Amino acid sequence: MEKQLLKAAYSPEDFREKGHQLVDILADHLNNTINSTSSKVINWEEPDEEYKFWNNFLLHGKPSDLNNEIIKRSIHLHHPHYMGHQISPVAPLTGLTSMLNAILNNGMGVYEMGMAPTAMERVVVEQLCKEIGYSKKSNGFLTSGGTLANLTALLSARKKIARKDIWANGTSNKLAIMVSEEAHYCIDRAARIMGFGKKGIVKIAVDKNFALKTALLEESYNKTINEGFEVIALIGSAPSTATGIYDDLDTMGDFALKKGIWFHIDAAHGGGAIFSSKYKSLLKGMQKADSMVIDGHKMMMMPSITTALLFKDGIDSHNTFRQKADYLLQESKEEDWYNLAKRTFECTKYMMSLHWYTLLKIYGKDVFDAFVTTLYDQGQKFGKIIANDPCFELAVKPMSNILCFRFVEKDSDLATLNKINSEIRQKLLEEGAFYIVQTKIKGIIYLRATIMNPFTNEEHFSDLLKKIKSVATIIITK
Ligand SMILES: Cc1ncc(COP(=O)(O)O)c(C=O)c1O
Repeated sequence: MEKQLLKAAYSPEDFREKGHQLVDILADHLNNTINSTSSKVINWEEPDEEYKFWNNFLLHGKPSDLNNEIIKRSIHLHHPHYMGHQISPVAPLTGLTSMLNAILNNGMGVYEMGMAPTAMERVVVEQLCKEIGYSKKSNGFLTSGGTLANLTALLSARKKIARKDIWANGTSNKLAIMVSEEAHYCIDRAARIMGFGKKGIVKIAVDKNFALKTALLEESYNKTINEGFEVIALIGSAPSTATGIYDDLDTMGDFALKKGIWFHIDAAHGGGAIFSSKYKSLLKGMQKADSMVIDGHKMMMMPSITTALLFKDGIDSHNTFRQKADYLLQESKEEDWYNLAKRTFECTKYMMSLHWYTLLKIYGKDVFDAFVTTLYDQGQKFGKIIANDPCFELAVKPMSNILCFRFVEKDSDLATLNKINSEIRQKLLEEGAFYIVQTKIKGIIYLRATIMNPFTNEEHFSDLLKKIKSVATIIITK
């Protein structure tokens, strides 16, 4: 009985048949979404109802319906009306590399548990470092997401700047980082994980364009030092999540160098612009960073999650987690670049390099240029359309593909407008024809659109604004 069951679970012929069926289903899904044949981006369901459905399906659902139900009940990133969170509508080819990864399932911790993907990872990392403008001394690796990569970079900073013996002896020093008040919350979280506490996270105010006010750096630094802290790192956002605005990395890099502290760039969203001939200048000064994070699953067309963490000085990428684990990680005289678990937070990780390498091999780096440039261009165009419509107000002129704007109505106060905009977003979610999100900046609720789909065009923007106006009218008159 058990044997039969296991034979069925591992049947190559069953895999072949189901695999072909799934590829057909997904190709139809891509067709329907990319060409907007399907009317909805999301078929919204309340969480408890969704849970009930899947609980019931486990007992009574038809196995042949499973994949279609999963697709129907998931958000559709390939639909041009998807303008929500910063996740790639993946290049379909990376669906195939995902399958390759899943079946081979090489663990990547040590070289023999992933020879090809380990070497491919080195090739990819070298390409990224070159585009950043790092020297041959640079190095890096792929890891599981921007959140983890930012934490890893700050751990590297602490080891280098504050305490080289931290693994052995710990530290009770009061350590601090400096970062924009608009940075992604994961930086704050990383510092708290590292025991810095609230006071060890020095938040620098932003200017009217939401970029870190570099004029405040010196004063904040001195104040923090005078309070008995050792500042280990300055972090730049490229761009920050809520508004999509890039910090002045060039000036920040100079400041960090002057103070002898680590400069880290969180380019989880906008690091892909290293490939954009038109928008690379937004990252001016990036080669001054000691470390930089770039997410493949945001602006580089790859599935979640795959992130590159690059170091100006390759030695730093070896030092962070130096640790003995005799059954897996042996001491070696030279830097064994090929035993990745020595350098990453993870022990097992998936074969992320398959996506990066395959896209480079099949389409070349121009595909990343095309993707980022198209999306940032669309951000500019949508910004102009919003700015020219008196029913709307932009939080700031967009610098990337992230836009914050709100519906405005003459003579309405802030509380009323916040309520209206919040209701607009909720109504859009429930209707499902468009997907955008919302954010609160300095007490103001904005609708937030991130153009993630290269096929989202001006007509879709106009349709979205029309839809928002009609929803707003209903809300106001109810
Ligand atoms: C600027 C920035 N940093 C870090 C993150 C977190 O990245 P991840 O979701 O890959 O952990 C995000 C996610 O939106 C981000 O926008």
